[in-house]
Amino acid sequence: MLADSPSAQTLNSFQFTFEAYLDHASRIEPDPNPTEYDSHSLSDSIGRFQEEFGRTYHSYRAGSYHFPNDPTENERQEEQFEILKIVMDKRNYLSPFSASDPPRKVLDLATGTGTWAIEMGDEFPDAQIIGTDLSPIQPPFVPPNVRFYVEDSTEDWDFATDFDFIHTRITIGCWSDMKTQVVQRAFEHLKPGGWFEMQEVDIVPTSDDGTITDDFPWRRWAHDLIAAGKYANRQLNLGGEPLAAWLREAGFEDVHEVVFKIPINGWPRDTFLKHVGMLWQRTLMIGVSGFSLSLFHHYLGKTVEEIEVSLVDVRRCLFDQKVHGHMNFVVVYGRKPETSAFGV
Ligand SMILES: C[S@@+](CC[C@H](N)C(=O)[O-])C[C@H]1O[C@@H](n2cnc3c(N)ncnc32)[C@H](O)[C@@H]1O
Repeated sequence: MLADSPSAQTLNSFQFTFEAYLDHASRIEPDPNPTEYDSHSLSDSIGRFQEEFGRTYHSYRAGSYHFPNDPTENERQEEQFEILKIVMDKRNYLSPFSASDPPRKVLDLATGTGTWAIEMGDEFPDAQIIGTDLSPIQPPFVPPNVRFYVEDSTEDWDFATDFDFIHTRITIGCWSDMKTQVVQRAFEHLKPGGWFEMQEVDIVPTSDDGTITDDFPWRRWAHDLIAAGKYANRQLNLGGEPLAAWLREAGFEDVHEVVFKIPINGWPRDTFLKHVGMLWQRTLMIGVSGFSLSLFHHYLGKTVEEIEVSLVDVRRCLFDQKVHGHMNFVVVYGRKPETSAFGV
């Protein structure tokens, strides 16, 4: 009937016909690996997530991490992962590993959905990759050399001290003192000659031309989040901390710092940066409610309605292309000396 109708004939003259679209769209393949978790090896209480504000949160060490672990946030993290990979020219790390000089044992702390660990498992099939997180939100089917464990990495790590690569990425809100809880422990858990790499975003946007001012709503929001984090005893802006100095003070040598500027929307003339900025704007728009709800409610005393109303301006400012803002994505990596003066 569609093919005989006048409108169908008109549409058929287009290069991509309505019928052709129907052919493809009539059967949309579902994601064969939908966001879910396999809890059969976990106790029920760890797999049963806490619910608040219509979001879910981790139940192991409940209340210590204030961002959600539901499909909305997990899918946002997947997008964020892809953006950071574009920014890093398709690399997952800057430490000097390669096919001819692979890591043998890798630890990814606060691994989230585990994509970094899984890709490392594929890239280095002879390596053993371990990912840890408070939430069992990693997919059930992973390369055979990848394992995930539920662990609170602010506590002693339940692993040997023979890693040759330890990694963290976007761990804001995970630690009360990343320097002692993570950097120093990473030093202890690495083999001599092993590498530690941190990848963190400075959530306070800035600009090279002064178009970001202190009253820019996202900037004010970021300062509020950092303040709420202080009450919650959590560091909320690791990208703004002296990460390289932390590594040197822990005993690492050959410390490098690379800063990538990520535009907050599509304001740049350069098409690559415009694309990155548009993607980054989207991930911020999706994420901001989940970043705000628990911390602003429990530590700044705001109601959910007050929070959502305040986020209208925070989201809106991300559309203003006259403001040339960017966030710094900071990658810091360093090596544990072959012979350590620190005795570990
Ligand atoms: C923003 S996600 C980052 C995930 C991943 N590294 C990435 O780049 O996609 C932060 C993760 O840290 C986990 N987390 C928070 N506090 C933690 C802790 N104390 N120990 C282990 N994992 C923690 C959270 O459950 C969450 O999955």
